[in-house]
Amino acid sequence: MATTLFHISDLHFGAEDRAALDWLAGEIAQHRPDGVICTGDLTMRGTTREFDAAADYLAALGVPVSIEPGNHDMPYYWEMVTRLRRPFARFEAMRTRAHSDLPIADVALASLPTVTPAQWRINWSKGCVKQPALSAALRRLEGARGLKLVACHHPLVDADTAKHRAKKWAPVFGNTRSDHQGSGSTRGGQRALAALAGAGVTAVLSGHVHDPFDRLVETPQGPIRIIGAGTLSERTRATAPSYNRLEWAEGALSVSVRRYA
Ligand SMILES: [Fe+2]
Repeated sequence: MATTLFHISDLHFGAEDRAALDWLAGEIAQHRPDGVICTGDLTMRGTTREFDAAADYLAALGVPVSIEPGNHDMPYYWEMVTRLRRPFARFEAMRTRAHSDLPIADVALASLPTVTPAQWRINWSKGCVKQPALSAALRRLEGARGLKLVACHHPLVDADTAKHRAKKWAPVFGNTRSDHQGSGSTRGGQRALAALAGAGVTAVLSGHVHDPFDRLVETPQGPIRIIGAGTLSERTRATAPSYNRLEWAEGALSVSVRRYA
């Protein structure tokens, strides 16, 4: 029997695309996936109002939704004290209302947080993988059979999306828009990806770059698939708002991108 999962990302309430969100809700009502995996950036500025809107929307979908934090899901820079003291308080309040673990027998899903409220580089929007988070994800998948997924916000290695390829040689100052879009600079990402490949993970799901992708990456511990979902916000880049439809049947994972016309 096939398992269907919808992979969504970067809804960015505060700059959401209402028509695209209505379309997605209709798709979910029609196709009734076994679960939805959301790989972060629920909001624009991490405000209570934006999180409330996100929670209302996700809770109304009527299917289990598993939620990861994105770099936009912390208080914004002008709320620095709150950002540093309680970076995920609002996110966790929203998650309490809208998150469900996916109750699917042949699917193991591990969370791998890649966001941090501050780091030693200019652009704090970039990702980093900390060893305790990686260890927790690996423990979660120990002994799992069937579809083994890891969900995080930042691509662990270069997503090589169309927009990024076009701007690859733009001036490099670490915090340029093009560098953010390609997001191949997740600290500890390569090491993490290799460890996940060694653990037999089927695919790593992420968002952040706002364009969908599906790649097989070679690592020292074997190949692993990385899958990115586009955005459902007004902050589109090379492609229209979209989500990914994942089908798991007879030991094979197929992915199709569904675009909002
Ligand atoms: Fe985003």
